[in-house]
Amino acid sequence: MVEAQPAESGAYIFDASWKQERERLGHLEAVWDPETIPHLESVGVGEGWHCAEIGAGTGSIAEWLSRQVGATGHVVTTDIETKCSVPKVPGPMDPAMTSR
Ligand SMILES: C[S@@+](CC[C@H](N)C(=O)[O-])C[C@H]1O[C@@H](n2cnc3c(N)ncnc32)[C@H](O)[C@@H]1O
Repeated sequence: MVEAQPAESGAYIFDASWKQERERLGHLEAVWDPETIPHLESVGVGEGWHCAEIGAGTGSIAEWLSRQVGATGHVVTTDIETKCSVPKVPGPMDPAMTSR
């Protein structure tokens, strides 16, 4: 059951600290990544690129980007709420990714 909360004027309607934020972002990832990835491929993202993703959510696109840019590239991500990207933070498997 979703508990509706009134948004403050000018506030992001889906508060990033919401307890179901990871689930919400997971649904967005499932819907939009199949559209986002072909777009990024058409832009030509590849080996050696340096990318910044502002508002990375779960980090699924950042993860994809880090595979494309390889060891000679770099991906920097940021988000107002990083708890949702915890499983995908950089580590030995993703040397090209930095999360802030
Ligand atoms: C719709 S999700 C997009 C996730 C991902 N970029 C994608 O394309 O699948 C938007 C993200 O932006 C983050 N966000 C919202 N306002 C922000 C801000 N002022 N600074 C940084 N991140 C922000 C939210 O926490 C959320 O994770």
